[in-house]
Amino acid sequence: MGTEDIRCRIMEEELGTFWPQWHVVKRLGGGSFGDVFEIFRDNYGIRTFSALKVLRISDAEASYSLSSGNARPYNAEESCSNFGENNIPEVFMNEIRIMEALRGAPNIVSIENFHFRKNAETNSLYVRMELLTSFVKVMSDRQRSGRQFTIPEVLKIGKDICTALSFCEQRNIIHRDIKPANMFVDKFGNYKVGDFGASKRMETIHPTHMMTGIGTISYMAPEIFAGRSYNNTVDIYALGLVLYQLLNNGRMPFLPAYGQYTVQDIDAANYRRLHREELPSLAGIRIYGEMIDERLDSVIRKACDPDSHRRYRTAKEFYDALSGHEVREDNTQTISTTVRTTESSHREPDPYQRSEQLNAASAAGYADHEKVYAQKEAGIQEARGEEGINLALIVAIVFIIETARKTPADHSRPRDTSAS
Ligand SMILES: Nc1ncnc2c1ncn2[C@@H]1O[C@H](COP(=O)(O)OP(=O)(O)O)[C@@H](O)[C@H]1O
Ligand SMILES: [Mg+2]
Repeated sequence: MGTEDIRCRIMEEELGTFWPQWHVVKRLGGGSFGDVFEIFRDNYGIRTFSALKVLRISDAEASYSLSSGNARPYNAEESCSNFGENNIPEVFMNEIRIMEALRGAPNIVSIENFHFRKNAETNSLYVRMELLTSFVKVMSDRQRSGRQFTIPEVLKIGKDICTALSFCEQRNIIHRDIKPANMFVDKFGNYKVGDFGASKRMETIHPTHMMTGIGTISYMAPEIFAGRSYNNTVDIYALGLVLYQLLNNGRMPFLPAYGQYTVQDIDAANYRRLHREELPSLAGIRIYGEMIDERLDSVIRKACDPDSHRRYRTAKEFYDALSGHEVREDNTQTISTTVRTTESSHREPDPYQRSEQLNAASAAGYADHEKVYAQKEAGIQEARGEEGINLALIVAIVFIIETARKTPADHSRPRDTSAS
């Protein structure tokens, strides 16, 4: 019997003492303060699956976190009714209160039940919640199979997480640890935010963890790093970085664009970012034939501006910017995919020009991005074939116009005409 099996057996026995109808399937992950298991229950012949997060903390740790004033960004009116004041560590209460306050909000991991147990010096909290797939797993599966996230997929992820953050803002909650490991996806393809509280405990109990744990520092806003005051925009910043990473072929800003990188590279990249260097532009990167334009680049980089005052002030603003990009994307497929060889592909599009074929490809959505890719590539090939001569002519005319410097070159109109 391996260690995993032993852990599951121990958990099964423990679980039997308070939720006997539930059984352990497997361990899903290990966290900073405990483990997360997949569990199930059979009820009237129907099997239900859930996730069980187990948090353990000693009395000493608990009292330390209390005396150091653990942050409690939660609305005091939203208390949980089925919990007595039985000497339960406040750090546990904090996470439960937040999850309860947000229960039912879209795009936030939903809590189902919780249980507290004290055994000698150890306090254990068991949180049952909806079973999801970790976004880290999604990312690594994609990386392994060489399937990058498409631009529409990244926009969907961004908007879903913005929705979650918007509900957090409504309840005065700052998540403070937005990162792929705390993001999830459900079976319908909705992205969700989870893990409210572990990082806060970690900051409070073990301040040094913050500085040594790469996973924790990688999405941290510069003002937190500098020990200055901060607000909800640190979550917007962290989400911006996640989206940046997804658009940048999985790489964080300032990492080498190609090849292997080392821990030293990661440290150097974090150093530059946390010392407020402007993030490198994403504009011009192509994902499955679709190019990141300057507008999308500016949306992402505004979210992760080193200066918190220049970021989106609310998650709703960030959501709207991502949606605005999407609407525009839809209307500009012809431009951005047919004349990508000139700098002018970033210019304002003519919203009335549409390519039916490419729009159909977009409508297929992210569920089948390879198909979309194939369709788009076919569209590009076709458009290029038709336009070959026209394009050369247009480029020549534009060149003459630009050289003459009489008016700014408007590439969009002749290009659109040729595509139609
Ligand atoms: N609801 C869930 N469904 C599936 N897996 C989960 C769920 N919650 C957590 N996990 C897994 O357990 C890991 C740790 O959980 P998390 O809530 O982030 O705790 P920690 O405080 O330890 O970071 C996650 O990264 C994920 O792999
Ligand atoms: Mg976590």
